[in-house]
Amino acid sequence: MNDTTSGTAGGTGNRKDDHVRHAVDQQHRGPDAGRSSDHSASDFDSVNFVHHALAGIDRDSVELAVKTPAGMWQAPLYINGMTGGSAGTGKINGELAVAAREARIPIASGSMSAYLRDPSLAGTFRVLRDENPDGVVIANLNANATADQARRAVGLIEANALQIHLNALQEIVMPEGDRDFAAWPANIETIAAAVEVPVIVKEVGFGLSLDTVRRLRELGVAAADVGGRGGTNFARIENERRSRGDYAFLQSWGQSTPCCLLDTAGVEGIDIFASGGVRSALDVARALALGATTVGVAGRFLSVLMEQGTAALVEEIGDWLEALRRVMTVLGAATPGDLAGCDLLLTGQVAAFCQARGID
Ligand code: FNR
Repeated sequence: MNDTTSGTAGGTGNRKDDHVRHAVDQQHRGPDAGRSSDHSASDFDSVNFVHHALAGIDRDSVELAVKTPAGMWQAPLYINGMTGGSAGTGKINGELAVAAREARIPIASGSMSAYLRDPSLAGTFRVLRDENPDGVVIANLNANATADQARRAVGLIEANALQIHLNALQEIVMPEGDRDFAAWPANIETIAAAVEVPVIVKEVGFGLSLDTVRRLRELGVAAADVGGRGGTNFARIENERRSRGDYAFLQSWGQSTPCCLLDTAGVEGIDIFASGGVRSALDVARALALGATTVGVAGRFLSVLMEQGTAALVEEIGDWLEALRRVMTVLGAATPGDLAGCDLLLTGQVAAFCQARGID
């Protein structure tokens, strides 16, 4: 994600390729594989719907569209920011864009800083708009960007929104990563005021706390994507890319996506998006029930694309949307927003988190 310096394995392009390889590998090993503590189960499994046998509605009365700060989206699901910046990842962006177009869901770019530094890489990002001219396409930058850079990134792909990623933990583990984060809040405020599209601030797998979300709201941010722990683990990816020094002790850092959603539930004046470790349509339903407006998926969709191809990813997304519709049918939720009224049973680490944070 950070593109200000070269990666250990070569330039930014190599790092981008490394991230894809490691992230797909994690889908097989599990993000928490190799850890001594028992965190291998997903916190989503500690969030369950109470079954009410007479709650069901007719499938055709379920409507998946959601209202977001970036307009109406046809379904509460998007492909989260991943890649671009090298020939190989440009090709992946093209395929992801086709999948998003065919499945009619929004897609976010990976960090576009590489383009700002080297305009010859524009095509590896521009392909997102070229392949998906009428869809929702979201630009992506880090929080070091200037207002002018943000405008250029948005302009390049005619973006409908701008994601700014927060990844301090990842940077700290990267040998070549950033060490200075104090300017981030002011930069975010400047960018949010400067661009004409809504700004979505996201974590990359360590989670956003309630305090952070409140701060983002004050900075003029339209939506906060909690990007919680439980899926792609960038502490582990960067640790495995290090040639010396072991930062494995940071691999369990952060809050899981369900915990972040419970922490931030009910916050007003900013939309909450959910991502991080979303494995299935049921996890989408759980995230919506915990208050998310819409739900992002990165690693899982990337791995389907890389291993089975674009048509398989389109089918997978279609299957998820149909399964979500069916889960909503049984729960009696005619809209994604209605899921927030469903009875939930919280157990395990999630219940412990609520107790420790004083959440009812
Ligand atoms: C990412 N992610 C990411 N996020 C971001 O804002 N800018 C970026 O450039 C990238 N790059 C990137 C590369 C790859 C290969 C992956 C898999 C992911 C993070 C992503 O958007 C998401 O926050 C995390 O991956 C957690 O979600 P999943 O993977 O558990 O669904």
